[in-house]
This record gives sequence, structure tokens and C-alpha cells, in this order.
Amino acid sequence: MKEHLKHPVFKVLADIAAQHTIEAYVIGGYVRDIFLERPSKDIDIVVLGNGIEFAELAGNQLKTKVAVFKNFGTAMLRYHDLEIEFVGARKESYRANSRKPIVENGTIEDDQLRRDFTINALAISLNAANYGTLVDPFQGIEDLQEKLIRTPLDAEITFSDDPLRMMRAIRFASQLNFSIDEKALSAIKKQKERISIVSKERITDELNKIILSPVPSVGFKYLFDTGLLRIIFPQMANLYGVEIINGKGHKDNFYHTLQVLDNISLNTNDLWLRWAAILHDIAKPPTKRFEEGHGWTFHGHEDKGARMVPQIFAQLKLPLNEKMKYVQKLVQLHLRPIVLAQEVVTDSAVRRLLFDAGEDIESLMLLCNADVTTKNEYKVKKYRNNFELVKQKLKDVEERDKIRNWQPPITGNDIMNAFGLTAGKEVGLIKNAIREAILEGEITNSYEDALRFMLEKGKEYGLSPAN
Ligand code: CTP
Repeated sequence: MKEHLKHPVFKVLADIAAQHTIEAYVIGGYVRDIFLERPSKDIDIVVLGNGIEFAELAGNQLKTKVAVFKNFGTAMLRYHDLEIEFVGARKESYRANSRKPIVENGTIEDDQLRRDFTINALAISLNAANYGTLVDPFQGIEDLQEKLIRTPLDAEITFSDDPLRMMRAIRFASQLNFSIDEKALSAIKKQKERISIVSKERITDELNKIILSPVPSVGFKYLFDTGLLRIIFPQMANLYGVEIINGKGHKDNFYHTLQVLDNISLNTNDLWLRWAAILHDIAKPPTKRFEEGHGWTFHGHEDKGARMVPQIFAQLKLPLNEKMKYVQKLVQLHLRPIVLAQEVVTDSAVRRLLFDAGEDIESLMLLCNADVTTKNEYKVKKYRNNFELVKQKLKDVEERDKIRNWQPPITGNDIMNAFGLTAGKEVGLIKNAIREAILEGEITNSYEDALRFMLEKGKEYGLSPAN
């Protein structure tokens, strides 16, 4: 293992350990990531003794400031691009209603036993007697090879100690495409309710990491199967299931949504576009109707879905800013390119889509492409061909009319000046009429045409030019 501790900082830490006869180990994610060949900048050091004192010795030696977190018994320093955290080895026990542990000093093995997963409990010695030796009392390496998330201790205790670990288990499984060991899985199912003592922000942090993993459905299936999803994000769990009336069923919107999410994840790493995929059909359950002679319908699910976005963002403590607006817009518009692709694609319909989507048109097209999940090869081909047509039309219309980020050539102020009006209903009506006429292709997108049109409209409302 020595070759993995190439960075000179490890030598400095080892020298401090030797001088003060304190045992020290590199532990946790940094060691795991050596084996996964994922370079990491976060180093955790555990010492058999006082972690804060050790950190201060290291800070002196490395000539860098040390941040001390007395309540947690930890300290952190930055050295070049590394972030190094120090803690004393612990033998922990937790209180039933809090994630904050009562801490006692322990051996390295005590400390490893109290960590979340065997793959996160690997340690490498920094001590002179066995520098660079891997310390793996719980078969973490074997689990890495078998792609298994397993707890060092009885899973019931591990998750009860810190229920956030239930989310972490699923997050690591999703990020690494590992399975969760049977015992750990049944412990999560049993203790799922304890997730309620964890802050929403931390839960959502893990959820976002699941969403950003290579195949996010891996994590979401675990979230659903363990029952955690219904607790942390019930609207999504409600997508699950198929109802049948008169022999007619609809598709399972949960698995459809996961397929759309996996599809879009092949083409984007953007968290918010992935969120749009998760939420695009979120209002299907509350808008579902069975219409005699017609079958299942979900009329207005895009409008209701868009209205649900702020509420879901607030509930999950996601930001209520322009990211939320972006997701909302994509949910609102997600059917539009498909509808376009099913009909004769007119210039005015394309102009309207461009106007409504603006800068987000590419995201919207990615979402719509990902939304094609039918197994029917013929239908897939038809959709894809039509999409190509819509894309080509979008390009043509954009080149010709520059609708994206477009503002009509006549502003509200122009209208008020022209007719000597103060702000009021008429101004809005005329402004809308001009925009509609341009989008419909009745007049060109030019100042002259818009001016002429404005004067005519004014006349219709009984207005006369100011001078
Ligand atoms: N740990 C734990 N229980 C937790 C959080 C962390 O036992 N709820 C331990 C694990 O040994 C983990 C280490 O603390 O490896 C560091 O945690 P953290 O930095 O949160 O995670 P990493 O494992 O480094 O992974 P990532 O950087 O992907 O979050």
C-alpha cells in the first residue's frame, strides 16, 4: 500500500506520529477510493488519542491554520489542494433521538466497527512499525470486489446509530453500482421511520447524489423497495402502480419516470435537468381519469405538475430560485415537442414553442427524447423521425426569426407614448395582440409592421394617436 501514500504530507504525519508515539491511520473514503481508482482530495486521519492535538501539531509542521470543532472532537486543515480531517479513535454509542454520539476513546478496530460500511472502514497505517499496511478487519476489500454494501457491525445498530446511513447505503449503491447486503436491506426496511430524525437538507444532499449517479434508477429502486421514498418524497412513490378498468390499464408511471431519468442521464450531468425528468409526470396520479369509450387520461398533468414543483422544492429544501423556475418550465412544456411531432409541423407552432422555451429549448428537446420509452420499435422510429423534423424546423425558424430570447419590437412604453396612455389594461391587450400576430406569422417581426399593427389595434379600442 506504501505506493499509494506518495503525497509528502503522509510522511509529515507519520513523523509526528513517531515523535509523539501516537498511532495514526488514514481511514475511510480516501482509502476506499484508492481501490476504486477514484482520486480524492479529502483525507481522514484517525489517531489513537486526541485528534485535535494531533491536528495542531500537523498544522505547525505544515504552516497552515487548523479549524477546530470542539463539540465533535475533530479538527481540519487545508494543505495545498488537500482537505485533511483529524479525529480520535472512537468507541461510540448514540442516543435514540439524536445523531450526536456520546464518545469514548477506543482502539482502531473499535473505530472501524463504528463506521458505516465495510468499504468505508478500510484503514492504512502511518506508524513506523507497519507503515503503509492495510488494516481491514471486516473484509472491506472482499466487499469492494463483490460490489457489496455491508455494515461492519450488526446492521440494525449501524442504522439506528445514524439513520442518515440508510440514505448513504443507497447512495453508494447507486454511485458505484453495488448491491446492498440482505441484512442491511432488511434493517433499512425495519428502521425506515427513523429517517425522520435526520435534517431535510442532509437527506436531499444524498438524494441529489443518487440523482447524479450514472444510472440513477439503481438508487431509486432501493429507495422505493425499502419504503424510504414514500417517507421522504411521497409524490414520487405515488407514481407507482397500474390500475385496470374494463381490461384497460395504463403504464406504471414510476418505472416510466425511472426510464426517462436513466435515458436523460446518458445525455446530461445537469442536476436540474435530471430533476425535470423526475418531475415531468409527477401530476399524473392526481389528474388520472378513466373516460368511458376512451380509456385512461391525464389531462392537464403538465399544468398541475408545474404547480406542484415549488411545493416539492420547498418540502425537499431545494433552492426556490431560478433552478426551480427552470424545472417548472420544463415540466410545463414537456408535452409540447411531442404534440408538435404528431401533427403537421407549422412555422407558427414552432415559433410559439421557441418563444415559450427560450434559452431552454435544447433542454426541453433532450427531455422529450428521453420521454420516448415505448417498446414498440415502429412507434420509437416514428417519434425519432418526427423529432428530427421538429429540430430541423426549430433551426430554420430560429435562423430566420430569431425568436429565442425575443422581445416584441414594440414595448409597453412605446404603446403608452403613442396613444398618450398611462399603464392600464389596454396597453397589455395591445402588447399581447402584437406578440400573437408575430408568432402566428400574420405580420413580420419588424418595427414598421408592428407599428402599423399597433395603430390599427388602437383604433379598434377607440384610441387615437397622441399627436
Ligand atoms: N462515516 C460514517 N457514517 C456517516 C458518515 C461518514 O461512518 N454517516 C465515515 C465513513 O467511514 C466515511 C467517512 O466517515 O468513509 C467520511 O465520510 P464522508 O466524507 O461523508 O464520506 P466519504 O466516504 O468520504 O464519501 P463521499 O466523499 O463520497 O461522501
